Amino acid sequence: MSIFDSLVIHGLPLVPKFIVGRFAKPYVAGSTIDAAVKSIRSIMDEGAMATVDILGEEVSDRSLATSYTNEYLEIFDVIASERLDANVSIKPTMLGMKIDEAFCADNIEAIAAKAQATDNFLRIDMEDHTTTDPTLRIYRTMVERHGHHVGVVLQSYMRRTADDINDLRDLKPNIRMCKGIYREPRTVAWGAFETVRENFTYTIEKLFRAGSYVGIATHDSHLVWAAMSLIDRLGLNREQYEFQMLYGVDPELRRIILDGGHRLRVYVPFGKDWYPYSMRRLRENPTIAKNVLLAMMGKKTL
Ligand code: FDA
Repeated sequence: MSIFDSLVIHGLPLVPKFIVGRFAKPYVAGSTIDAAVKSIRSIMDEGAMATVDILGEEVSDRSLATSYTNEYLEIFDVIASERLDANVSIKPTMLGMKIDEAFCADNIEAIAAKAQATDNFLRIDMEDHTTTDPTLRIYRTMVERHGHHVGVVLQSYMRRTADDINDLRDLKPNIRMCKGIYREPRTVAWGAFETVRENFTYTIEKLFRAGSYVGIATHDSHLVWAAMSLIDRLGLNREQYEFQMLYGVDPELRRIILDGGHRLRVYVPFGKDWYPYSMRRLRENPTIAKNVLLAMMGKKTL
């Protein structure tokens, strides 16, 4: 990233929320479940699948975690009644991870049980490194209780990821592999772009060789190519993996992957708490972030 891009990204918090909101609109499927259903239908029309996430961040209040849990339970009912090709993704810190691990595990247990009861699937997202151990502990328990109805996420920037795959091997884990989005200290994460890429291809190969189902979550064309060549080299079939992309990011790449005969799932976030998620997305794209700053200075129309 250039010094200019880095300056642009550091300037983002100064931008008024309504301007960020207008630029962030493509990344969020709306504030209600009805809006999310509409977006999922258009994704399905393209031939893709979806995973639904309620926008939100870490909670410190038990009643808020319980209310998110109940919302997630309802989403499984909506997916079933609307016959959507969609599953659900959750963030443990929204479900009380930082309050009490056992409380969070109970909430995730309720959601995983619902995933199983509706013959659907629950993906446990991975957050910053302070949550990795508890998230993987909860994941292990959920797989023991609900089998293939639950999966988790690993991040290729984490130094520990290959070891985590070794530790989870007995579960034949269902893993979404992504680069990782949180700002992590050097002691826990690889910093260099190329190392994170190489660790991505290294770890997805390791997972495939261990018999795992892998969600290949990236918009990086080089990694898409690396995954496709690995799929070809290992002779994998469509049921052993899926590509995954975020809502609003690079629809053209989405089309290219689908036209190549691969399955692809779009991560569809919705809800009222859109600001932190949108800032993370804008930080990943200095070109859009630059336009946000120009708009704030009255130099560009939205
Ligand atoms: P990279 O950042 O190099 O981007 C590749 C290309 O895509 C670049 O050209 C870039 O400009 C473009 N691009 C990326 N973001 C863009 C944007 N917002 N708008 C426009 N273009 C954009 N992380 C995590 O820590 N825990 C998790 O649970 C998840 N879950 C998750 C699910 C899914 C389905 C995806 C796709 C990603 C995640 N992530 C995540 C985020 C992930 O870790 C990572 O930060 C982003 O995917 C960006 O990394 P890429 O591999 O896309 O490469």
